[in-house]
Amino acid sequence: AIDPSFENTYEEVDRHEDHRVWTTDGEEPTEDKQGIHGTHVAVDFDICIADGACLEDCPVDVFEWTDTPGHPESEIKADPTYEDQCIDCMLCVDVCPVDAIDVDPG
Ligand code: SF4
Ligand code: F3S
Ligand code: ZN
Repeated sequence: AIDPSFENTYEEVDRHEDHRVWTTDGEEPTEDKQGIHGTHVAVDFDICIADGACLEDCPVDVFEWTDTPGHPESEIKADPTYEDQCIDCMLCVDVCPVDAIDVDPG
């Protein structure tokens, strides 16, 4: 499952669209090791298997597919492109079969 303390245990390394990208070691993401995208709505790309339930169920369409060619779990990932629109319903957290998503209502 995604580490809910990633803001402390990971390092911010990059930006993708308008959101942050985090990796464990502060190194740039690689094909095999993509890290976490987003902050308020965070998706661990190394855990996501492209199930798609989050895209289907999010009532405000926070997620979009993004390509991750060569990643061992899946070659597309649910990217939290519109995390600013999140209404903290927690549906995506509940439906993801691999617990790849963390939402911090803070
Ligand atoms: Fe969408 Fe709800 Fe998940 Fe926020 S918590 S990203 S509104 S499904
Ligand atoms: Fe990925 Fe889980 Fe969504 S596997 S596509 S983050 S439901
Ligand atoms: Zn992204």
